[in-house]
Amino acid sequence: MEQIKIAIIGTGNLGLSIVKGLLQSDLKDKVKIIATRRKWNKLPFPETEQLSFTTDNKMAVSQSDVIIFSVQPEQFDAIALEVKSLLKEKVIISTITGLTLKGLKEQLGSHLKLVRSMPNTAIGVSQSMTCLSHNGDEESAKAAQNIFNCLGKTLIIEDELMQAATVLGASGIAFWMRLIRATTQGGIQLGFDAQEAKFIAVQTCLGAASILESDENIHPESEIDRVTTPKGCTIKGLNQMEHEGMSSALIHGLVSSYEMITEIKDKIEK
Ligand SMILES: NC(=O)c1ccc[n+]([C@@H]2O[C@H](COP(=O)([O-])OP(=O)(O)OC[C@H]3O[C@@H](n4cnc5c(N)ncnc54)[C@H](OP(=O)(O)O)[C@@H]3O)[C@@H](O)[C@H]2O)c1
Repeated sequence: MEQIKIAIIGTGNLGLSIVKGLLQSDLKDKVKIIATRRKWNKLPFPETEQLSFTTDNKMAVSQSDVIIFSVQPEQFDAIALEVKSLLKEKVIISTITGLTLKGLKEQLGSHLKLVRSMPNTAIGVSQSMTCLSHNGDEESAKAAQNIFNCLGKTLIIEDELMQAATVLGASGIAFWMRLIRATTQGGIQLGFDAQEAKFIAVQTCLGAASILESDENIHPESEIDRVTTPKGCTIKGLNQMEHEGMSSALIHGLVSSYEMITEIKDKIEK
């Protein structure tokens, strides 16, 4: 069995979720992970033969075939300088928000196999939506897709759609959490205790998503039609939500996040 040696450079919220996801995934017996950050006050998991933690980026990179950069944009410059000479022939994956393939090329070298990814924190439970773009090297894109397919679902997109993917997929986790929280709060007001309300809200959300996932031809609106009886309580509630601006608020929120992420990208590119 061929081992996949992966260095995760920057093990914060996302990097740690990737580690967790990989160790629970179908790849769990195949991976050898070296995870880095500048200081480890306490190791998040015990080290094993498959997982080690270090502060030494150079060592982690030179001992791995796939390198995942998962640091904040402003932290990347120093790391790029530190490891760029060690990256030849490796599959390089960045999760860094706002850093385009063009920017990555400029910092690391255009001859490299570069993949840009936008996962979300559901990667820790192998349910990430990960959008990927690449600079023409199909083989490395495939290698990245094989990894992220074990951690949820993937979609290869054009690099210019990455900002939109960041909003819809990565920030999307926060948006959906707030919706679940809001429906939970409503449930509490209607008489459930907090735990029961959350249980019902989460399973109902999963149910709605599962219906749509079961058949790509099903449209959300046709499912709404199945639940809304004429003059019934569901349509009354739904219309009230729309009078209060539910769809409009969501779309405005997405566009607002998009404007901000575009500003961040423009700043990084300057
Ligand atoms: N969180 C998400 O849901 C999400 C989703 C998609 C994309 N992203 C993007 O992914 C990147 C990481 O996000 P995050 O939320 O995980 O950020 P984070 O929690 O701030 O993690 C960044 C990690 O990088 C480490 N680091 C900084 N400088 C380093 C260096 N020189 N060498 C090694 N490690 C270093 C930091 O630890 P030390 O300070 O100890 O070094 C920290 O643990 C960001 O660009 C973010 O925009 C995040």
